Amino acid sequence: MGRINLEGISKIFGSNSAKALDLIAQGKRKSDIAAACGAVVGLRDISFDIEEGEILVLMGLSGSGKSTLLRCMNRLVEPSCGRIVVDGVDVTRLGRKELLAFRQKTFGMVFQHFALLPNRTILGNVGFGLEIKQVSAKERIDRSMQAIELVGLKGWETKYPNELSGGMQQRAGLARALAADADILLMDEAFSALDPLIRRDMQAELRDLQRKLKKTIVFVSHDLDEAIALGGRIVLMKDGEVVQIGQPEDIVARPATEYVERFVEHIDLAAVLRAEQVADRAAPVLAPTQTVAEARTALGGASGGVWLVADGDGRLVGRIFAERLASARPAETLSSLLDLGQSVVEAESRLDTILATVAAEESVAVVGQNGRLIGSITSRDVVQALAARPGTHAQPQAGAQILSKPSGAPTWSGTSPNSPSTRSATTASTGSQSMAAG
Ligand SMILES: Nc1ncnc2c1ncn2[C@@H]1O[C@H](COP(=O)(O)OP(=O)(O)OP(=O)(O)O)[C@@H](O)[C@H]1O
Ligand SMILES: [Mg+2]
Repeated sequence: MGRINLEGISKIFGSNSAKALDLIAQGKRKSDIAAACGAVVGLRDISFDIEEGEILVLMGLSGSGKSTLLRCMNRLVEPSCGRIVVDGVDVTRLGRKELLAFRQKTFGMVFQHFALLPNRTILGNVGFGLEIKQVSAKERIDRSMQAIELVGLKGWETKYPNELSGGMQQRAGLARALAADADILLMDEAFSALDPLIRRDMQAELRDLQRKLKKTIVFVSHDLDEAIALGGRIVLMKDGEVVQIGQPEDIVARPATEYVERFVEHIDLAAVLRAEQVADRAAPVLAPTQTVAEARTALGGASGGVWLVADGDGRLVGRIFAERLASARPAETLSSLLDLGQSVVEAESRLDTILATVAAEESVAVVGQNGRLIGSITSRDVVQALAARPGTHAQPQAGAQILSKPSGAPTWSGTSPNSPSTRSATTASTGSQSMAAG
């Protein structure tokens, strides 16, 4: 549980909201609307889906609408128009009482300056939400202790907030949200007040926690490094609009606008590129059943120090060094010549985590989740990938979706660019005996 659908959400602050909505329908932008009627457009016609169990980061400059959008999701801010559906429940239609109950049950929130109650212990703070829900004392303590343990504060439960560092207090805030066991966590700049080192720890811990607990997390940040560290999709906002949605590497490779391009220009490519994107998929792959003569023919004049060998299902079985192939008898089958010392990395691995392996090996095999060989990576492939500064913003391609509405366009709806179909397109099957390019 934890799927959120946003459909045509706009938020107007100040007076003249009807006029402003009318202007939005005509395709006008935030600055035009401010000039025309003085209304502040907080959000402008936002539609996209947040998948169950994903970690999604809302990013953008100050004033771009991140907090407003986050708070619209549980109607702490009331959208001026549009629909929010959470697990099939139309949140926008809930009455006051139902909304309060739904919010308590479904959403946990963590803010930048998380206010712990000073006169309560950490245990008392973490269990506060459960107390309001009138959960029994025993269950409250059990669940609070579990959450305290999850965030690494075990042993501190009897202390008071002023006895904890800022980072620890932020953990307590996270524990409080976790103890309530809501499916969705809304986190607004939750780590921004922390020291850089502690902040990095917290990012890694949140990512691990999310994998373990499978919560849907919507995280507001204006820090690209933080968004990358959290490891999910990024929604880039500007002037109350969504400019682009995608995995960091898609956004870096294909920035939708100049604004996005500027946002990502100083990004550490090695931290966002994944092995499957760097892999050379065109290199020939041999079959263990082939004879040496057949392999030589298949390779034609191709040069290389080592060849990968995969079975009929495309699964890596080993490698053969070129010298071995050159010196073997033509009738010998490759299975008897295999070397099993091939280094393998997973398609999803970030480039920076595999650099040392690539540097130490002639070539590293990249395999998909199903164990199928996707391609191989040599040091040269890495250098090429890092040297290739992403293209200009004018090249919309599969994988990254561009979400700026042409002015006056009558209808528009965004779908997730991280859908299974685009995912599989980037992990092309390698069932055949050569690694398909692209
Ligand atoms: N309560 C409010 N009344 C009037 N205008 C508001 C209100 N809240 C937000 N706004 C306006 O809506 C726009 C979006 O604000 P929001 O706080 O969502 O931005 P943000 O991206 O979270 O920025 P920051 O990074 O500074 O937190 C801004 O133009 C802001 O001035
Ligand atoms: Mg904000």
